Amino acid sequence: MLGDAQSFTLQEAPIMAVERTLSIIKPDATKRNLTGKINAKFEDAGLRIVAQKRIQLTMAQAGQFYIVHKDRPFYGELCEFMASKPVVVQVLEGEGAILKNREVMGATNPADAAPGTIRAEFAESVGENSVHGSDAPETAAEEIAYFFSGLELVG
Ligand code: CMP
Repeated sequence: MLGDAQSFTLQEAPIMAVERTLSIIKPDATKRNLTGKINAKFEDAGLRIVAQKRIQLTMAQAGQFYIVHKDRPFYGELCEFMASKPVVVQVLEGEGAILKNREVMGATNPADAAPGTIRAEFAESVGENSVHGSDAPETAAEEIAYFFSGLELVG
C-alpha cells in the first residue's frame, strides 16, 4: 500500500512540460561583462543552459532573426544594435522554460520590469534591453534551429 505522500492520483499530480527556449544576451550586456550575472539569474530560477555560444551577428543575420519586426519603426535600429558587438546565444531548458525565462527577463521596457528581473537590474532602455527570449513554443523551435544544430544541444 502507498504511503500518504504518494497517495495522489496521476490526474492530481502537477504536470508541467520540460521545454527549451532560445535566449540571447544582447550587446549592451556582453560589452558590460554581464554574461555571468545573467546566467546566474537563469540558473537560480531552475533553468539549465544546455547550449551556449558567443557570436558576432552580421546585419543580414540580425535582420533575418527579427524579420517579424521588419515593418516596425525600430527595425533598422534593432538590427544595427544586435550586430554592433558580440551576443551570447543560448538554449535554456526546464519545466515551463518559455514562460519562466520571460518572468526572469522581465518586461521588454525596463521601466516596466519587476524588481529583481534581468531587465530591471541591467537593461539600459527598451531597445538595449540586455536579453531576448522566445515568446511561444513555435517561435522557440524556430529560433533554436536558427542558431543551433541538434548535435549542439546537450541536455
Ligand atoms: P526582444 O525581446 O529582443 O524583441 C524585439 C526587440 O525589439 C525587443 O526585445 C526590443 O529590444 C526591441 N524593441 C521593442 N520596442 C522597441 C522600441 N519602441 N524601440 C526600440 N526597440 C524596441
